[in-house]
Amino acid sequence: MRVPMIAGNWKMNTTLSEAIELVNEIRQGLGQIAHVDKVICPPFISLAVVRELIKGSSIKLGAQNIYFEEKGAYTGEISPLMLTDLCEFVIIGHSERRLYFNDTGEITNKKIRAALKVKLKPILCVGERLEENEAGRTEEIVTGQLGASLAGIDYLNGLIIAYEPIWAIGTGKAATGEQANETIGLIRRNVVELYSERAAQEIRILYGGSVTAANATEFINQPEIDGALVGGASLKADQFLSIVTQAAEIENRLSG
Ligand code: PGA
Repeated sequence: MRVPMIAGNWKMNTTLSEAIELVNEIRQGLGQIAHVDKVICPPFISLAVVRELIKGSSIKLGAQNIYFEEKGAYTGEISPLMLTDLCEFVIIGHSERRLYFNDTGEITNKKIRAALKVKLKPILCVGERLEENEAGRTEEIVTGQLGASLAGIDYLNGLIIAYEPIWAIGTGKAATGEQANETIGLIRRNVVELYSERAAQEIRILYGGSVTAANATEFINQPEIDGALVGGASLKADQFLSIVTQAAEIENRLSG
C-alpha cells in the first residue's frame, strides 16, 4: 500500500538560523511517529545544515526547485546533480513557479526529466485557477498539465503528484475533501492512461492548498488522497506535527 506523505514547503521563508530552530522543534516533536513519510523542503541555503540536523531521524529532505541543466554557465541556478547528495525530493511545477518565473509545461517537463535522471524524486504540482474552476475546466486543465509535464517520460520512479488548486494556495480557502478526492481520482485515472494500472496504484498523490491542523484529517481520510503538501502551516512546528500525527492515526486505523 501507499505510504502517506506529509511534505512541508517552506517557500521563501526562514533565514538559516530560523530554519535551524524550526527543524530542531520538528525533530524533537516527532518522536517515534512511523508509517508516514515526513518531508521538509527548506530554502536551498539551509539544505546542507538541515540535512545534518535530521540525521538519524525519519525526516526526509526536499528542495523547492531546480534548473534542468546539469552544470555550466547559468549564474544563480542550482542543478539536480548538486542536490543529489543533499536531498531525496524536489518540488517541480509549483504554481508560484509557473506564475512568477515562467515555468511552462515544457520547462516543467525538462526539470522532471533532469531530476529523474539523477534519481531525485519530483513532487510535481498541478492545479487550476479560480476562473478555470468556476468555468468547470478543472479536468481539462489538470489533464493538460499532466500530459505536458510527463511527456516522453517512460517511468515515474518514485515521482509524486500534488494537486494544488491555485485558488486554495495561501488563501485560507481550502478545497473540500470531496472536491480534492474527485480531482485526485481523475489524476489517478490519467496515470492509468499515461502509464499503467499498476503505476496508478503505486503513485502517491497529495492535496495542497491551505491545509492546516484543523482540516488535515478531512483530506487524508479520503481514499484517493495520500497526504498533503503544506505551505504556511508547515512553518509552525506544532501545526506540522499535528498534521503528521493525524496522518499516522488514519494510517494506523486503516492498517490495523
Ligand atoms: P499553503 O501552500 O498551504 O500555504 O496554501 C501550499 C503550497 O503552495 O504548497
